[in-house]
Amino acid sequence: MNYSTLKTEATDHIFIITINRPDKLNALNKTVLAELDKAFEQVYKDENTRAVIITGAGEKAFVAGADISEFTEVKDNEGERLARKGQDIFFKIENCPKPVIAAVNGFALGGGCELAMACHFRLASTNAKFGQPEVNLGLIPGYGGTQRLTMLVGKGKAMELMMTGNMIGAEEAKNLGLVNYVESPENLIPKTKEIINQILTKSPLAISKVIEAVNFYFNKDGFNEEAKLFGEAFSSDDKKEGTAAFLEKRKPAFKG
Ligand code: COA
Repeated sequence: MNYSTLKTEATDHIFIITINRPDKLNALNKTVLAELDKAFEQVYKDENTRAVIITGAGEKAFVAGADISEFTEVKDNEGERLARKGQDIFFKIENCPKPVIAAVNGFALGGGCELAMACHFRLASTNAKFGQPEVNLGLIPGYGGTQRLTMLVGKGKAMELMMTGNMIGAEEAKNLGLVNYVESPENLIPKTKEIINQILTKSPLAISKVIEAVNFYFNKDGFNEEAKLFGEAFSSDDKKEGTAAFLEKRKPAFKG
C-alpha cells in the first residue's frame, strides 16, 4: 500500500509506521489521519503483521500536534465532529489486538502526545518533549488526551500539564509513567524492537486478551464528554484568536 504522508516498512513481523511530514514537524493533517486509519485496517487484516511501531520522520519531532493550519478551514460548529473522528482512529489503534508501541523521537505535542498515549506503551529518545499545549490556542485536547493523560500520570499532574500547556522532557515523562524507557536517538528503534521481540515469543491470543482486558479499565463516557467540550471550545473567540496568533507567529490576547 502506498501512502503520501506515511512511510511503512515490514520486517520480521514488525510493521513500522513513520509519520512523514518533517517540514511541518509531522503535524496530523486530514491525510495523515485518513492514512493512519487505512494503515491500521491493513494491520488488523495482515496475518504477517504481529506488532506495530509508530514513530516520526526527522530528528526533531514525533508529531507536533494536529495541523493548526487546517483548523481555520473547519466551521465553528464542527469541532465536536472533528474530535470524534480523531478519537475513533485512536480507538482503532488502542484496540488493535496486536501490540502497538510509540517510539517518540522528538516533540510529541497535542495530538502527537495523544497519538503516543493511544499506543499500548511508549519509549522516548533523550530529546523527546511531551505536552498538551491546546490551551495556548484557546482549545482543549480532543483526541482522548484529557482521559489518557489522566490515566497515565494521575489527575494532579495531568491537570497541571493541560492547564499550563508546559512541555516536559523525556526523563520527567519516564518518572511520571508516561514513557517506559528513555533511549539515545540511535537506540530508540532497536530497543523498541528488542521489547517487541520478547512479546512475540508469547501467545498472540493471550497478548490480544491482555490488550482487551486492560482497555476495559477506561470509562468511555469521559471521551464523549471531551469531544463535546472540545466542540464548545472550538466555536469560541479565544480559539479563533489562539490559532490566528500561532499562524501569525505572535502571542494571543485571550478574552475568555
Ligand atoms: N500544525 C501546523 N504546523 C505546525 C505545527 C502544527 N501543530 N507545529 C509545527 N508546525 C509547522 C510550523 O508552522 C513551521 O512551519 P513553517 O516552516 O511553514 O513556518 C514548521 O512546522 C516548523 O515549526 P517551527 O514552529 O518553526 O519550529 P520551532 O522549532 O521553532 O518550534 C514547536 C517547535 C513544536 C515548539 C512549535 O512548532 C509549536 O509550538 N508547534 C505547535 C504545537 C501545538 O500547539 N500543538 C498542538 C496543536 S492542537
